[in-house]
Amino acid sequence: MTAAPESAAASFRSWQGRNAELLATAPGRINLIGEHVDYQGGLVLPAAINLGVFAAAGRLAEPVLRLQTSFAGVSEVEIPLDALHRLEAADSWANYPLGVVACYRQAGHETGGLAIAFDASLPAGAGLSSSAAFEAATAMIVEQACGISLPPRERALLCQQAEHTFAGVPCGIMDQFAVNAGQAGHALLIDCQSLEFVPTPLPAGLAMVVVDSGVKHALADGEYAKRRADCETAAQLLGVGCLRDATLAAVLAAREALGERIFRRARHVVTEIERTRAFAAALAGDELATAAGLMAASHASLRDDYEVSCEELDALVEIAGELGIAGARMMGGGFGGSTIQLVPAARAAERAAALEQAAAARGLRVSAFPVIAAAGAAPVAL
Ligand code: GLA
Repeated sequence: MTAAPESAAASFRSWQGRNAELLATAPGRINLIGEHVDYQGGLVLPAAINLGVFAAAGRLAEPVLRLQTSFAGVSEVEIPLDALHRLEAADSWANYPLGVVACYRQAGHETGGLAIAFDASLPAGAGLSSSAAFEAATAMIVEQACGISLPPRERALLCQQAEHTFAGVPCGIMDQFAVNAGQAGHALLIDCQSLEFVPTPLPAGLAMVVVDSGVKHALADGEYAKRRADCETAAQLLGVGCLRDATLAAVLAAREALGERIFRRARHVVTEIERTRAFAAALAGDELATAAGLMAASHASLRDDYEVSCEELDALVEIAGELGIAGARMMGGGFGGSTIQLVPAARAAERAAALEQAAAARGLRVSAFPVIAAAGAAPVAL
């Protein structure tokens, strides 16, 4: 059976020997453009997608959190609510739900004992934010258990806090925001400084195809933190709070003072923010060739100035170009994960198959599939 909320409910039933009382779903996300700018107050344009994480839960009389996942193999953990802490190695998957429950408790939302079973249709480690989906699905269970319903923005901030403190990843707000605030048929133009967002309709004739490279290079997390630090140095040297407040002219003028590496990091961020603005305008005006060109420029900047791409992602973008797909770029943190391409809606399945085949001919075993912009995390009626 393809994973769905019902499969999480079925897992719960066979695990706990009774029916679940609470059910929730949370999507993954793609990002059309606006990469590595969220932690500098930039603009991003992600969309929640029709693949996600599902959670089924029941209350427990004892004050413990019992968790089970059936994706990536069946695994279980149990921790007293008053002693929630980070877990290592084999149990590290549990840090996402543990972190969310801990952050809600800290914010004064007491859940009581819970058993939660998770299932997913979203591939893990593919750059589609399975961690944010995991967090948001947990948050929806916690909110139902507490009888509250936080605005998506507040939920996103609690989920981000869980990722920082329990998963140990100093991520920006984009992923948690997109999976909580997503709207069907829309991307979200999020201003990561004000946390305001504008739902942006996707043209009907356009489809999104994801190509999962299947690789995740080990340096990904360490390099992410280094990029953040480089941006902070750049902002400090430029005398701004974050790079959103710097102009390209100021960055160009400060090249020598910044030094070559920091200069290039800053140039990526300020130009990517402008590309995101231009991309949203191009989408609204149905200027698809302009949008595609901006995606190509985004990839080049991430590869050359920000240095977060890798051989496999560059090859996939090149292959898309050879197939006549103009809108293609790496997506997410980089060093592996997925690329995103825009293709004519009527040809989505055929283009995905062609991308897979062309990659295989170059010795790359990838998985390509169309995705649809979907709604954000939500409770599911039982
Ligand atoms: C990861 C992070 C996001 C964002 C992207 C890069 O997905 O979780 O906050 O920084 O990388 O755009």
